[in-house]
Amino acid sequence: MAYTVSKLTDYSAAALERASAELLSALEQESVAVKSEADWKIFRDRWVARKNGVLTQLNDLWLKAAPKDAKREVGQRVNEIKTRVEDVVEKSEYLQLEIATGTPQASDIVDITLPGARRSIGAEHPVIRTTNEIVSVFQKLGYSVAEGPVIETDYYNFEALNFPPNHPARDTQDTLFIAGQAAKAGRERLLLRTHTSPVQIRTMETMRPPLRIVIPGTVHRNDPPDASHSPMFHQVEGLAVDTNITFGDLKGTLDHAMKALFGSSVKTHFRPSFFPFTEPSAEMFVSCFICGGSGKRGAEPCRPCKQTGWIEILGCGMVDPNVFEFVKDNGYDPKKVSGFAFGMGADRIALLKYGVDDIQLFFQGDVRFLRQWA
Ligand code: DAH
Repeated sequence: MAYTVSKLTDYSAAALERASAELLSALEQESVAVKSEADWKIFRDRWVARKNGVLTQLNDLWLKAAPKDAKREVGQRVNEIKTRVEDVVEKSEYLQLEIATGTPQASDIVDITLPGARRSIGAEHPVIRTTNEIVSVFQKLGYSVAEGPVIETDYYNFEALNFPPNHPARDTQDTLFIAGQAAKAGRERLLLRTHTSPVQIRTMETMRPPLRIVIPGTVHRNDPPDASHSPMFHQVEGLAVDTNITFGDLKGTLDHAMKALFGSSVKTHFRPSFFPFTEPSAEMFVSCFICGGSGKRGAEPCRPCKQTGWIEILGCGMVDPNVFEFVKDNGYDPKKVSGFAFGMGADRIALLKYGVDDIQLFFQGDVRFLRQWA
């Protein structure tokens, strides 16, 4: 029969001892019988609920009802019992087991027949995917990957690339300078790199020739955003330095790379150009892989190549001897080594490859747009 608190009639020490032993043994028995969370809740409420729990009854039937001269004795007993009861309830063997073994509750039993919760996996961003494709074409040719800081000094971004201070060639790259550097010497001033070319210098400072590297990275220019411009964009740079590197090596390498990227039927075409760090310099075009070089799509004019049949892809050239002068001490004597370099915009290539007509879409983070690459 379940234990109930009965009024005390005898307040002797022996009688108190008996009554409290009876209570505590009932507590033990009921505690051992707890087998589930539901059992435990009933057990807890029965013993410690404010309203009519055993402890509350004890207070009323034992303590309050006790004659004055027994109150002290009874009060002490009730307190001891209270501590013990709370202890047993809190540290119920069932709870201990639960903590130790993680015995599952009805509420967290897993129904393995239910379909799993699908977590959406991100997709590789089209610009990153294009960058990786370009990089891997060159890796297969034996190029290593080099990287450098996005916050760069004037020295690496311009001066060591043969853009002398105040030279008008700097105006072609509208640069974002870090504020508050008036006190610094010009070449130490920090800016957001406008191209990945400074990594050519940084790498030649640490690695001796021969050298073959590709350099992917973000660059910044003070260009207002529109369909084909973004103040932040991506480039892939390349540099090969060895003895007897010729313009023929440049053409052969880049022609191969373009065929690997856009298909074996594309043709390449070079036009003279100017960059301070290459001499001679060129712009390379590929035959339009959208209209096949005809400049037309059916009766419509081909927009990506502006009906010319050619798409400008990159800038390139033979490394200017003045550039080697800056890293001469690390084995780059312009009389002994020669090299070629190139740089292309990864975003522009991604736009062309995927037929996207607005570069802003790449950076707005709209999942409806990005999901197309999932
Ligand atoms: N750094 C140039 C730019 O951002 C691109 C470039 C042109 C890189 C010629 C090169 C190169 O390495 O040889 O406009």
